Amino acid sequence: MSTLHSVTVANVNRETPDCVSIEFDIPENLQKEFSFQAGQHVIVRKEINGEDVRRTYSFCSAPSEGKHRIAVRHVENGVFSSFANQDLKAGDPLEISSPLGDFTLATKTDQSSTYVAFAVGSGITPIISMIKQVMQNEPNSQFFLYYGNRDSEHTIFAEEIAQLKNKYMGRFSYQYFMTRQAVDIPFFNGRITGDKAATLHKQVFGDMDVAAYYLCGPLAMIDDVRATLLEAGEPEEHIHSELFFANPEDAVNSQKKNASEGLAKSKVKVISDGREIEVDYRDEHGSILEATLKSGIDVSFACKGGVCATCRAKVIEGEVNMGLNYGLEPEEIEEGFVLTCQSVPLTKSVTISFDE
Ligand SMILES: Cc1cc2nc3c(=O)[nH]c(=O)nc-3n(C[C@H](O)[C@H](O)[C@H](O)COP(=O)(O)OP(=O)(O)OC[C@H]3O[C@@H](n4cnc5c(N)ncnc54)[C@H](O)[C@@H]3O)c2cc1C
Ligand code: FES
Repeated sequence: MSTLHSVTVANVNRETPDCVSIEFDIPENLQKEFSFQAGQHVIVRKEINGEDVRRTYSFCSAPSEGKHRIAVRHVENGVFSSFANQDLKAGDPLEISSPLGDFTLATKTDQSSTYVAFAVGSGITPIISMIKQVMQNEPNSQFFLYYGNRDSEHTIFAEEIAQLKNKYMGRFSYQYFMTRQAVDIPFFNGRITGDKAATLHKQVFGDMDVAAYYLCGPLAMIDDVRATLLEAGEPEEHIHSELFFANPEDAVNSQKKNASEGLAKSKVKVISDGREIEVDYRDEHGSILEATLKSGIDVSFACKGGVCATCRAKVIEGEVNMGLNYGLEPEEIEEGFVLTCQSVPLTKSVTISFDE
């Protein structure tokens, strides 16, 4: 399980009218635990109006910068993003987890690779971390960024991206897609679509033996671009994606359906932090995660919507049914991992480990 640590906010910077970046002061004794790879995220926990709020945010700083910085875009009526954009200030305490996630790009100094990323809105955060890491640590590699936004005013990190292009001319290039502002080349007007990705693949990077594609943004963009790249013959294992948000109603409906089709009762043996604890699951819990939390065991979670994979655990014995899954890769499912916030027991006893 990922432990939460109380750290201090070093500074809060306004990036756009609806986005702030937040740098954390990580104490010396936690520096090792907080070493991260480009693309990883942390869970941020804060009690807001009596509610235990946990959300996940990707680092926008690169590991090579020696800083721990995230960026939070305001979402209408969003509990944490409103707090971060309106109230959070330097010197405030926040609880954060150590870095998590497999949406990563690990650089090697002597490697000569081509990387391509498609990002939309706040989906730029893990991608800009990757771009900076590649530029600083792989001097023979190049990076192509395609970045969708409504207009230039709301384009997060526009200035930093322009500076990176000037500094790494010939190795880093970017193109903006705008939905509510006309751009010079009509092709870049509107959303990033599968058709546009197909054209770019054909005309720009399709012959470059791209080492890895990174997709971060809304589900429709990720699905369309992934399908296009696969159709163009790109290997599945070269296409990496991270979703920040999915329709919460889908998760609730799927959970209800799942629970109604599963067993009414089951004994779930939960392994967490090396301890084994028996939990009584009842169908009104709706998920193994909820039953575990209700019995007082503090396991990791954040979105409870099948997206962030923070609640991932491995089924050691028995069977479970997982409804929605936006967070696990097919290989992880084959290895027996499930999202516990979306899973219910199918057998009278189940053993599940959060320590794997
Ligand atoms: C792995 C991962 C990494 C993430 N990294 C970042 C990041 O770097 N920067 C960032 O800004 N966010 C990031 N997110 C999203 C973030 O975790 C929160 O979901 C987001 O900030 C909204 O939280 P909230 O508390 O403000 O909204 P909530 O209180 O959770 O939601 C309020 C309302 O807004 C809706 N809503 C929530 N999120 C969105 C959305 N993205 N678009 C439209 N409607 C939404 C909800 O359905 C609800 O109706 C990431 C998510 C994941 C899973
Ligand atoms: S808590 Fe986010 S996928 Fe389960």
